Amino acid sequence: MRRTEALRSLVRETRLEPGQLIYPLFVCPGEGVRREIGSMPGVFNLSVDEAVKETEEAARLGLGGLLLFGLPATKDDEATGAWDENGIVQTALRALKPAAKSLVLIADVCLCEYTIHGHCGVVEHSGDGFRVANDTSLELLARTAVSLARAGADIVAPSDMMDGRVGAMRAELDAAGLEETPILSYAAKFASAFYGPFREAADSAPQFGDRRTYQMDGANAREAMREIELDLAEGAEMILMKPGMPYLDVLRAARDRFEVPLGVYQVSGEYSMLQAAFARGWLEPERAMMESLIGLRRAGADFLVTYFAKEAARLL
Ligand code: PBG
Repeated sequence: MRRTEALRSLVRETRLEPGQLIYPLFVCPGEGVRREIGSMPGVFNLSVDEAVKETEEAARLGLGGLLLFGLPATKDDEATGAWDENGIVQTALRALKPAAKSLVLIADVCLCEYTIHGHCGVVEHSGDGFRVANDTSLELLARTAVSLARAGADIVAPSDMMDGRVGAMRAELDAAGLEETPILSYAAKFASAFYGPFREAADSAPQFGDRRTYQMDGANAREAMREIELDLAEGAEMILMKPGMPYLDVLRAARDRFEVPLGVYQVSGEYSMLQAAFARGWLEPERAMMESLIGLRRAGADFLVTYFAKEAARLL
């Protein structure tokens, strides 16, 4: 069978649409700030006014939504900047709302960008060791979720990986009259080297220790299913998995098993790796980018969080 483009399109099994793409934004203090991230060409720390411009462009391109991260002016041990009514993401949400039009505004919920030590929860020191205090962290995470929803987040997306966070957030959101705000849980988040460049982008690298006590072992696919089950039982409406390319089998397993909306995050390291190859002329940018995205859709993701969102939408 000789395949013309029309025929290829007719029999294509997997499609990609701009509305399935979510673009991450890193919002920082100041005005007129547009600071490129060294390890992520084309990705910027943006002040709120610049983030508004970016939002207008994303809306014009027909993207599905934005995922917001914040770089606070100051950090402390209680992650005050995460749940402050006038925190950087809360401020950004209020400013972006009018420009967002059909874009869904998703707020990442985590403490790592807001704590001095860069861990995703509250840290307690004991002797020469430390531990991330799960239950104390829950209260702050739930407070953060409520404050982000109040500021205009359409969806809150906990990425911290503390046990019981979805249930804690659901309870606080409901108590605050925000029953309609869905939780998109990063239910299966593997401890991954591919988050490296993000920690530069979000200024959130742990100052001691690592995240292996609360993120998942990359060798475990069945455990990931269990984590998803627990988050759904606690009230998560949607699930986000990450990273993408090294975990396509886990994505497929989750798709076959759960009926809820399922997204995947093509993380910073996946983006940087491709960009590095593009810069050297080792890979064809457009084809490699699209192949990486369609692969994630084919493996079962309904929607993709990707730093390529704008470029991909332009081609679609
Ligand atoms: C923070 C968070 C991380 C990412 C999303 N939310 C980093 C981490 O867990 O270390 C990674 C995203 C990316 O690499 O693009 N909890």
